[in-house]
Amino acid sequence: MDVDTGLDDAIAIIMALRSPEIEIIGITTVSGNVTARAAALNTLGILRVMGKESKIPVLRGASRPLSKKIVHAEEVHGKKGLGNISLQCNPALLQKRDVYNFVSETLANYRKGEVALVATGPLTNIARVILEDPGITHSLSRICIMGGAFGLASKIYGNITPHAEFNFYCDPKAAQIVMTHASSGGVRRLNIVGLDVTDKYLTVDDEFISRLSNRQCKKRKKGGSKNSDKVPTIVKSLLRYPLTKFGKFDLPDVFAVAMLERPELFRFKRGKVDIIQSGISWGHSRFVRESHNINEHNKTFVATEVKSKKVFDSYVFSRLCK
Ligand code: BDR
Ligand code: CA
Repeated sequence: MDVDTGLDDAIAIIMALRSPEIEIIGITTVSGNVTARAAALNTLGILRVMGKESKIPVLRGASRPLSKKIVHAEEVHGKKGLGNISLQCNPALLQKRDVYNFVSETLANYRKGEVALVATGPLTNIARVILEDPGITHSLSRICIMGGAFGLASKIYGNITPHAEFNFYCDPKAAQIVMTHASSGGVRRLNIVGLDVTDKYLTVDDEFISRLSNRQCKKRKKGGSKNSDKVPTIVKSLLRYPLTKFGKFDLPDVFAVAMLERPELFRFKRGKVDIIQSGISWGHSRFVRESHNINEHNKTFVATEVKSKKVFDSYVFSRLCK
């Protein structure tokens, strides 16, 4: 996983850890919601809560974007990125390697197509790896990205500006490198989910929280182990800050994990994605659907909708309340 942990990144990591079908083999962090170092410490903190801190390598990646300006989102995710909670961790566990070496050494231990990449932050690390060795991404079965806003499932084109989604806004240059690479056959498959989908199909509000509490209660009544309470409790503490501040909240990054684990829950369209890198529309993502002149090399698939909100919802709760 490549993350800028972040409240929704944290919950996405928890969901991946709870999946019986996913094994996280490494997490790299990037400057985005918070600095790359803060994101790495937050990641270690989440892994510690989940009993995995010394089992999954965590590495601080790019501390600045390839594009010029550094942007963070402390007003959304809290000063340090995890709302108003601060988790204990052991910073000495941070890997000292560079992201490219880490990725290539890690991939060397697996068969081609056995590893996938889920990216829930700006695409700086991924773009740098591609620039270093464009062939490396062929070893991945797929790349699943939360980024952009395409106005497909709903007429949403941005959150940080009316025209741009945060991850792509932070580093449009990196995002464009990844998109160009995918449309020219550099990957086996790239799944992207934009804000227009994530905002429409999952909202955290008081009802979401009370459902977490109810499930927790039911588990306890059924004699669930002490640990079965841990995930809903941590998720509720993470969400307290944005809910108090905004009244409701979204979890876009959860969709990136879902596209890996349950791609059948989505409808996708193949096409090309471009990102504007100047002016008022900085970071704006444009999707051009491929209809006639099909470019066989293009492996970019943009999520256009979630097939069933109900099924998606029960998938999310099954991971958060197991
Ligand atoms: C994206 O921006 C970040 O603030 C979230 O973590 C998510 O990755 C949504 O635009
Ligand atoms: Ca994120």
